[in-house]
Amino acid sequence: MDDNVGTGGHVPVMLERVLELLAPALAGPAPVVVDANLGLGGHSEALLAAHPALHLIGIDRDPFAIEFSTRRLSPYADRTTLVHASSGDLAEVLDQAGRPVIDGALFDLGVSSPQLDEAERGFAYSYDAPLDMRMDTSQELTAERVVNTYSARELARILRDYGEERFAQRVAGLIIRERAKEAITSTKRLADIVRDAIPAATRRTGGNPAKRTFQALRIEVNAELSALEAALPAALDALTLGGRVVVLSYHSLEDRLTKQALTARTKDTGPPGLPVPLPAHQPRFRLLTRGAELPSDEELARNPRAASARLRAAERIRVDD
Ligand SMILES: C[S@@+](CC[C@H](N)C(=O)[O-])C[C@H]1O[C@@H](n2cnc3c(N)ncnc32)[C@H](O)[C@@H]1O
Repeated sequence: MDDNVGTGGHVPVMLERVLELLAPALAGPAPVVVDANLGLGGHSEALLAAHPALHLIGIDRDPFAIEFSTRRLSPYADRTTLVHASSGDLAEVLDQAGRPVIDGALFDLGVSSPQLDEAERGFAYSYDAPLDMRMDTSQELTAERVVNTYSARELARILRDYGEERFAQRVAGLIIRERAKEAITSTKRLADIVRDAIPAATRRTGGNPAKRTFQALRIEVNAELSALEAALPAALDALTLGGRVVVLSYHSLEDRLTKQALTARTKDTGPPGLPVPLPAHQPRFRLLTRGAELPSDEELARNPRAASARLRAAERIRVDD
């Protein structure tokens, strides 16, 4: 990612709503926010501009995102700590930054525009490129390794669980047959195999059939769901009283995990029928959104990539003694 990419193609998703939801939590004299998916730094830049006393900890597992955002946020260098790490290590990142308690947290999950648009990163089925899909380019596991070494069973499970692919077994079966002839190393060959595995009648509806397989592989390569399973509870635990979290997710699996993590903390956990609710059982958080909020039609017209966004937010209303 270099400066020529600019930020022209990239518009931070639901920016106004994110700022509005986090603002009350960041109104104190020395607030701290963590942006667990720094990306191009769009949300971070707006948060730093809106809150002159804010310290921002930005995390991204993509070294190019850290490099790019370090330049973009250089006017705020004295108020930012940018860390190349997985958000799965969020608790350690906060400890090492000497800020174990935070006022706000933002998760803008998934892939960034440059990851999708730079063909050679292998995320997109619309370009022919090596099958890579690593957000962290220093890790070993690539999509090529998954496609060429996982068993038929493992592949089918990933395609079903992470891609919600109805024809997971057929796609996995054809991958196994094709890779026996020659290793599958390019996005185009994989997209062709998926197309051939899906029954023709189904192919006519529902967009490019490779979409679900590519999503599944991306989630597997980057262990996206396990990172979220660790990161979101860590952020919630670190929030001070009145602290707020906002999560933007882009597919139903992320949104489901988010919903579960938030609702688990917004419920009274006491046995039903207690005459006086015990503080230990009372919810630590309240939801700030009713269900998941969606981008407006106006935003979708401006930024089609916001189409699958789902926003949920919560506020800490009680801390443990
Ligand atoms: C949608 S982009 C964020 C865009 C950003 N909010 C902006 O305004 O520019 C998502 C980013 O999260 C990063 N990412 C995804 N999973 C991650 C994880 N487990 N840990 C750290 N970063 C992650 C990706 O590398 C990508 O840069």
